[in-house]
Amino acid sequence: MKILGIAGSLREGSFNKGVLRAALENLPTDTQMEIADISDIPVFNQDIELPQPDSVKAFKEKIVSADAIYFATPEYNNSMSGVIKNALDWGSRPMGDNSWDSKSAAIVSASPSRLGGVKAQIALRQTFVFLNIHDIKQPEVVIANAMQLFDDNGDLKDEDTKKRIAKQVVALVEFTKKIK
Ligand code: FNR
Repeated sequence: MKILGIAGSLREGSFNKGVLRAALENLPTDTQMEIADISDIPVFNQDIELPQPDSVKAFKEKIVSADAIYFATPEYNNSMSGVIKNALDWGSRPMGDNSWDSKSAAIVSASPSRLGGVKAQIALRQTFVFLNIHDIKQPEVVIANAMQLFDDNGDLKDEDTKKRIAKQVVALVEFTKKIK
């Protein structure tokens, strides 16, 4: 089982990148996770869609070869970050070559706020409808008050949150086996 982890933040000390590192440390047996580097994906512009930029080609290949995708999303202004939407848009193009098609996925969000980025999760799901991404609904993992749970490097310190993330990854693996 190959999972591709995608964080919707490029920030060095990103909490959402920290979530993916925590998931990686505690994977179920027979499961691998690669964390995608999306920092070199250009801002989408239909004029440069083809030929595909090398970074986009490599990213699309990673999506296609993954069995499941684990999205760790920040919330920006009540929605997902531009970075994650940009990655979703590139992965869906060119028309007729949607690399996300039929992938299973799970969403987690981390935010310093009390609501934990839950609105970004809802926004992602809206986009998943068109991309035909099948995301699991439970367990929901919304990580609020992130300042208290992560250290200055963005590493997750909180053991309970680590367990919640691990459980969600197990659920993603089980769901992926079921729909394959
Ligand atoms: C934010 N942040 C934020 N948080 C939130 O819970 N709801 C929101 O609507 C927003 N809006 C928002 C807009 C913009 C432009 C920025 C830069 C930030 C705060 C955000 O959750 C915080 O910066 C997180 O640390 C971002 O995630 P990473 O980078 O730690 O993964």
